[in-house]
Amino acid sequence: MPYRIRLCRSMEELGRAVGAIGHYFGWVPAPQDVERFSRVLPPKRMHAAFDGDAIVGGAGVFPFELTIPGGPIRCAGVTVVGVLPTHRRRGLLSRLMRAQLDDVHERGEPLAALFASEPTIYGRFGYGLAALEYRMALPRTHAALRQGLPARVGGVRLVDHDEALSTFPRVYERVRRVSPGFLSRSRTWWELRRLRDDHRPPGSGPLNRALFELDGRPRGYALYRIADQEEEDGWTRRLRVVEAIGVDALATREVWRFLLEVDWMEDIRAWLLPIDHPLIHLVAHPDRLRLRADTGLWTRLVDVGTALSARSYACDGRVAFAVRDAFCPWNDGTWALADGLAKRSRRSADLALDVGSLGAAFLGGFSFAQLARAGLVEELRRGGIARADALFATDRQPWCPEIF
Ligand SMILES: CC(C)(COP(=O)(O)OP(=O)(O)OC[C@H]1O[C@@H](n2cnc3c(N)ncnc32)[C@H](O)[C@@H]1OP(=O)(O)O)[C@@H](O)C(=O)NCCC(=O)NCCS
Repeated sequence: MPYRIRLCRSMEELGRAVGAIGHYFGWVPAPQDVERFSRVLPPKRMHAAFDGDAIVGGAGVFPFELTIPGGPIRCAGVTVVGVLPTHRRRGLLSRLMRAQLDDVHERGEPLAALFASEPTIYGRFGYGLAALEYRMALPRTHAALRQGLPARVGGVRLVDHDEALSTFPRVYERVRRVSPGFLSRSRTWWELRRLRDDHRPPGSGPLNRALFELDGRPRGYALYRIADQEEEDGWTRRLRVVEAIGVDALATREVWRFLLEVDWMEDIRAWLLPIDHPLIHLVAHPDRLRLRADTGLWTRLVDVGTALSARSYACDGRVAFAVRDAFCPWNDGTWALADGLAKRSRRSADLALDVGSLGAAFLGGFSFAQLARAGLVEELRRGGIARADALFATDRQPWCPEIF
């Protein structure tokens, strides 16, 4: 029997479609899980793959905004993608991606973004790796800010859920608007996906919410857990940072001062840090951060013209891209960028590249020169790469502080 792909029409279908990825986490979504999930991802944003009446795969979209250089734009946050092991490698993911990208395009969302379980999966659908992330594991014995920094200012308080809900989003919102890679969070998102604490990772204690205030105003926060685990040579306490954000340099420093000074920890662990995180310059022993780079956010330009026109550029200039997009052929062809607007062009292009490479450069995480050194960008006119890089230059690396 041929498989069918379509959007879910009920909560019950949503639950079964999410169950495909749930299978790989050992998780069977209960009705209350599905009801909660539907508040951030309604059934009409979830595609399901049917084998007869059985749902054997699914792929969903959080309809949020993602900040790009210049500000937030609508973005399809691709998530809960899975095909049951009984139906793997029969083309169901490809068909789900086809239906999903067509739907995203029709809805006018110019960009899609995701975190990939494996980097081998999404390139074929036009996604490009747009950001790296750092993981750190700093031994507490070397956890100190470096000498010569300003003395402690302001204060940190541990707050309850409700106070976190009324203060953290204000901090986040200020940072989000100017930080490429940040996603918009509704109140429901905060409640369900950031501050909820009924599913603790094994061995982890409760979610702690630390608020940093200066002159009585919220300026930063940290969410963290303490994990007390038995290891070979005894019990080890780890401070696991879930998210730490400050509105400016001072607040970032004070939030991290607080996290690094919590006594009796073996180490302080964090992940999803941008690779230009100021912490590297703030600690006494950057060599002890034990930084490990990993792949972060992937982006896909669903509508090249709209996405390029929505972005801001570092200078005036013109550049024309010959874009190859086999999966979304409406993007295929030459796009000329001038005065911040991208239009189809008959001009000969300066650069040729796949849409995935344009996605990799879009947030400013990778330069065209870098991609050219990997053989992914071809310079068709002398100086084209330098011109494109001057336009796309950003003052910070993309940072998505949350896996979705
Ligand atoms: C990843 C997953 C969704 C793939 O689904 P699928 O239906 O088997 O994929 P398809 O049959 O449509 O494969 C399409 C192509 O991608 C390739 N592919 C699929 N999964 C891949 C993987 N994990 N690594 C490398 N290539 C992969 C296939 O070989 C095929 O290549 P081809 O077109 O050159 O023949 C499925 O294996 C799965 O659910 N995995 C566990 C959960 C997971 O990782 N989900 C993704 C979360 S981000």
